Amino acid sequence: MTFPKHFVWGASTSAHQIEGAWNAEGKGLSVWDMFTRTGEHVREGHSGREACDHYRRHREDVSLFSQIGLNAYRFSISWPRVIPAGVGAVNRKGLDFYDRLVDELLAAGIAPWVTLFHWDYPYELFLRGGWLNPDSPAWFEDYVTLIVHKLSDRVQNWVTLSDPQCFIGMGYGTGEHAPGLRLELPEILLATHHALLAHGRAVQAIRARTLKPASICWSPSATVFYPYTDSPADTEAARKATFTVFPGAIWNNTWLSDPVVFGRYPEDGLQVYGAAVPKIRSKDMETIHQPIDFYGCNIFQGTPVKAGPDGLPMAAPFAPGHVETACSWKQTPAAVYWGLRFLSKHYQLPVVITENGIATADSLSLDGKVHDTTRVDFLNTHLLQVRRAILDGVDIRGYFYWSAMDNFEWQNGYSHRFGLIYVDYATQRRSLKDSAIMYRGVITSNGGELDAFLPANDEQTPFLVKETIRFIHANLAAQFNIRELAEKLRCHPDYLGRKFKQHTGVELGLYIRRVRVDQARELLKNRHKTIDDVAEACGFSDRIHFAKVFKKLTGETPGRYRRLFSMTAPAPAAWTNLQPKNPRSSQVRPTLDR
Ligand code: BGC
Repeated sequence: MTFPKHFVWGASTSAHQIEGAWNAEGKGLSVWDMFTRTGEHVREGHSGREACDHYRRHREDVSLFSQIGLNAYRFSISWPRVIPAGVGAVNRKGLDFYDRLVDELLAAGIAPWVTLFHWDYPYELFLRGGWLNPDSPAWFEDYVTLIVHKLSDRVQNWVTLSDPQCFIGMGYGTGEHAPGLRLELPEILLATHHALLAHGRAVQAIRARTLKPASICWSPSATVFYPYTDSPADTEAARKATFTVFPGAIWNNTWLSDPVVFGRYPEDGLQVYGAAVPKIRSKDMETIHQPIDFYGCNIFQGTPVKAGPDGLPMAAPFAPGHVETACSWKQTPAAVYWGLRFLSKHYQLPVVITENGIATADSLSLDGKVHDTTRVDFLNTHLLQVRRAILDGVDIRGYFYWSAMDNFEWQNGYSHRFGLIYVDYATQRRSLKDSAIMYRGVITSNGGELDAFLPANDEQTPFLVKETIRFIHANLAAQFNIRELAEKLRCHPDYLGRKFKQHTGVELGLYIRRVRVDQARELLKNRHKTIDDVAEACGFSDRIHFAKVFKKLTGETPGRYRRLFSMTAPAPAAWTNLQPKNPRSSQVRPTLDR
């Protein structure tokens, strides 16, 4: 099954994480430039000063995006690059950079999706209170107006704010992110309220000025709880948890998105936050509640939940050893399915996955490639959940992998690699990872290639494994190795080997040799066939190789096996004698297998 006809296949980045050129050509400072200057807040003292040097290497990057076959590329604009002080004078050179980038993308057939704010707040405005200042929505609106004026003749897709839970929650609450504040809940909620107003005013500014019909969303971090089992009680518990405001922090969906979509803060949130809720002026909700065209979901992981004795949600434990990403996030593909389902139903909007991705420990192999099989697997398992949601009727318009390229991962510096493109930061050389090549296959087949990884209906063995077995048996006389086999099945050899082992318990190479040797045993019964004939018919390159493999698996040379066979074959009584004494045990059978 392929994905819907106009499904958008993309990848995302953000300005501060890739651009570098932190003070080039008139750019102003952002809170992240300041937060990272002493080295104390970020792992190994890294900063985004150089990052991927995308500001200078954007042409090469666009050409790599085009090699991956991206339909769309979502990037963010650095507010202080285009308005150095956040308000006032415009930096033309900074603006021109985005102008060129949009043109290059369009020339490569890639639709630009512009995120207006992805955390790099102008430092000058932070000194005036940042998101705590009631003027902050107006500052943002002015900046957005400038961008829309410049780019809306070519850009149609806009994302207002990315992850308010992070830039407010971690920037103003826990202090892990810039600007590093640790404020109390009333201030956190005030900053949030201003960010919501900024979102609303941005939507108004886009609608008022756009030169092309605009499609607008916002992309909060999706907080997903998914059912531990398929039972209706667990499903309802997970749904409830997904739309609950928990005390103390703003890591939830509804406090942020209910105002945007419904024009009101959720009732339970008003109760839980109580006196910390900021004063809401009469027109505020009208401003925040602007029609948006779809809901952007940044989904990376979720939490399993089951129904407690009273039906209320209860955290369900992860099994020990549950698989984690390189940044210790649990891998939970089910969160994608349930998150999309719950959010689209609650908000009654089409959804786009604006971010979903994994950090893995990638490195350049000796062959000059990056074999990121875990990411390949991640893409498969997660995209199959997207597809499952589509099949179940969820209106999903697109998928953006996070991230198009390795980049500056905020407080974790460069230690976590999320990209489809590997970046060697010492030389700024880029390489497409295996996952990029796999993603290309998915894009060009509009998701059709994912079929190879679907479990068959009747049992748990994936189609890919069945197809491998079928292929081996059907082509025994041919000489092929695992790499060639994987090429035929259009997947990466490591991935194929891993999946095969996982589902059969046997190494793929050993399996192939066993099937060849089994066939050889049969053929050796035929006295008219020479050993060379048998070797050739079973796909061995020559008699010596055949003899070696045969001896290893059976303990006999082909010649001796043939002689042995002719002695034992006509003596069924001898077999009978070898039957186990206990007839209930069918485990022990006479066999020459080892
Ligand atoms: C953020 C990215 C970040 C990623 C991984 C996303 O929610 O938007 O900036 O790199 O998470 O932490």
